[in-house]
Amino acid sequence: MGAPSIDAQTRLYGIIGHPVRHSLSPAMHNAAFRERGVNAVYLAFDCRDVAAALAGVRGLGIGGLSVTIPHKEAVMAHLDEVDPMARRIGAVNTVVNRDGRLLGLNTDWIGAVKALEEVTGLRGRRVVVLGAGGSARAVVAGLSQAGAEVHVANRTVERARELAQAWRATWSGLDAPLQGEILVNTTSVGMAPAVEAIPVPPQVAGRFGVVMDIVYSPLETRLLTAAREAGAVAVNGLRMLLHQAVAQFEAWTGLPAPVEVMEQALMDGLKRRGG
Ligand code: ATR
Repeated sequence: MGAPSIDAQTRLYGIIGHPVRHSLSPAMHNAAFRERGVNAVYLAFDCRDVAAALAGVRGLGIGGLSVTIPHKEAVMAHLDEVDPMARRIGAVNTVVNRDGRLLGLNTDWIGAVKALEEVTGLRGRRVVVLGAGGSARAVVAGLSQAGAEVHVANRTVERARELAQAWRATWSGLDAPLQGEILVNTTSVGMAPAVEAIPVPPQVAGRFGVVMDIVYSPLETRLLTAAREAGAVAVNGLRMLLHQAVAQFEAWTGLPAPVEVMEQALMDGLKRRGG
């Protein structure tokens, strides 16, 4: 379906963060608006002052926001309501403007769950999560919600303990004997330019049936190569990125997201970016 051209009815959406100039979200959401015939546009706002940005959302009646680093925690103080999962995770990545009331959601946990569910069940599965930072908080929340048995392994064991205890998970350092059915890397280890880095030794990756990396630059991290070579199913970081955006689109519009169109836009955006 063709979208109407920009006119007096067009609604504005966008992403706030710093930096955001390389964000792939505008490509995905504008393609989805076009495909569904929604009269809306989505822009990237490089912004440092989250309070001013949210005042702008209210003042201009902006339809909704994606929120990224470094504003996912700070934005919560400027909303009328934060949904229980987002509150428990301690981060909001989505703002929905419902008739002037700003609602905060977190779709990162949904993205992680959907990305894994494309290839495996989660209920009762033992999942090892590498890392205990902001991304890990959403991943562990999603996995717990989906009924998985979670173990958090982190370089700083104290951070692993804190996160694990919040979700009744177990914890250890990265050098413990890690075992399970599914492995998820939420650390930045392996991200360009340090593409040779790997968060755990390759033989550890080979012990799992499914390995997901949330790093998507490069698309195939050394961890995923090791997993694939050992016969595991490898899930790259684009799947979570895609599915968190799918959930955002659905929260904003109430329409089913055109997943394949968004996936294509994501791939095209990545190519344009030279990623
Ligand atoms: P994000 O919000 O992207 O998750 P973060 O909160 O800074 O970012 O967390 C980064 C995660 O990557 C942490 O778990 C961090 O481990 P520590 O808690 O020990 O700092 C992990 N990490 C980053 N660099 C690492 C490295 N070189 N080796 C192992 N873990 C690393």
